[in-house]
Amino acid sequence: MHHQQLKAFPAGFLWGAASAAYQVEGAWNEDGKGPSVWDRFSQQPGNTFQNSNGDVAVDHYHRFKDDIALMAEMGLKAYRFSVSWPRIFPAGRGEVNEAGLAFYEALIDCLLEHDIEPVLTLYHWDLPQALQDEYGGWEDRRIIADFENYCVTLFKRFAGKVKYWVSLNEQNYNLTNAYLLGTHPPAVQDRKRFFAANHIAFLANATVIAAFRRHVPAGLIGPSFAYSPAYPASCAPADMLAFENAEEFTNHWWLDSYCFGRYPSAALACLQATGQAPDIAAGDLEILQRGVPDFIGVNYYQTLTYTDNGLDGQTLQRINTTGKKGSTPASGVPGLYKTHPNPNLETSNWDWAIDPTGLRIGLRRLASRYALPLMITENGLGEFDRLEEGDRVHDAGRVAYLESHVSACKQAITDGVELIGYCAWSFTDILSWLNGYQKRYGFVYVNRDENDVKDLRRVRKDSFYWYQQVIKDNGARL
Ligand code: BG6
Repeated sequence: MHHQQLKAFPAGFLWGAASAAYQVEGAWNEDGKGPSVWDRFSQQPGNTFQNSNGDVAVDHYHRFKDDIALMAEMGLKAYRFSVSWPRIFPAGRGEVNEAGLAFYEALIDCLLEHDIEPVLTLYHWDLPQALQDEYGGWEDRRIIADFENYCVTLFKRFAGKVKYWVSLNEQNYNLTNAYLLGTHPPAVQDRKRFFAANHIAFLANATVIAAFRRHVPAGLIGPSFAYSPAYPASCAPADMLAFENAEEFTNHWWLDSYCFGRYPSAALACLQATGQAPDIAAGDLEILQRGVPDFIGVNYYQTLTYTDNGLDGQTLQRINTTGKKGSTPASGVPGLYKTHPNPNLETSNWDWAIDPTGLRIGLRRLASRYALPLMITENGLGEFDRLEEGDRVHDAGRVAYLESHVSACKQAITDGVELIGYCAWSFTDILSWLNGYQKRYGFVYVNRDENDVKDLRRVRKDSFYWYQQVIKDNGARL
């Protein structure tokens, strides 16, 4: 669609930025916090880029007031952060750790004092290690009750202060890494266990949304999905079929379950034929259907392009975690699809395709298929940034990336998409789980690297001033 004129961003649009507890907080063992699976995993050599870990991260736990002052200076309307489950329940359940709740209460109060809307993520991958050890975490249905108990504790405490909640962050990406690629804890490579763990996560997600309705009736909740809209490599029918396979297995499998409470039929039939389908017990689909979200959180970084892949074809491969451009291999599922470079798109140094139109396409696909409001809960560019003389960071590539993507949002709104917010990833630089501190995303540079915490000084990048201006005129000049 070509428009004569673009619609304005709606009044009250949530111009935000996002983070996750493990990637920013540090203080991994302070004030009664229990260990998470990421504490354990990243403290074992060889699991992360140059063995970087979140023990200190960017010390947001101790510096959140200074960080929020910077958010206020920028004019931010919303801040998406996650609560660390083992800060609240050090052993996953049992006795609540009041110091953990008090930390998040102070953070939320500080945001509200600065007129910044808190967007609270309940789970961003830092499972209590105790639950992994006791029953295998997401592979056991006992996690459903434990997750509900943890979430209800937060609902009760923060219902009056927090309106926007995110249930699971990127279940699809996290469990793909955890159970297919073996690159997130518990580092398993087993397709049957992957689908089984996902089924339990769907049930936990829906159970918590149903509980949310009782405890936070005025609030809005939805999962955040790592959304890479699929393209076919060509219009050859075999590529089109590979594209359909990829859409169904990499997108609809999750989003149909969240929003319709059922699995897409061709993918389910395929898994049943190969013995990899999850065990769907009586009543499971009803649980899913009772836990439909209020909005879909969209974490968008790139589109992926697919081509045909034979039964003895390309298998799944690990991504580039070094920033050496061009080092990402093709990856696929035999008999279904494999990735193919898109010659029309530039890529980042981590080989992620830069595709603002793909964001517009994706938003439209979601709005049409699920008829729910959308919130962009992550979007940003991970790149090397250089601290220059006089404490300057000229991140022109990030400004160009963000500007083109925010413009795509405006076009999508004009196309009829109900978009309620845009949270850039990230506010400060963060620890990138597998890519260390050198893959930076923030509007605010943090002076540290992989294994030297230096002074953790905050430095406003050029993108900070760019976003400040966008927020100020509500995107009018885009
Ligand atoms: C998402 C996660 O996968 O994308 C974030 O929700 C993550 O936690 C972000 O940092 C960017 O990915 P990466 O691998 O570049 O850090």
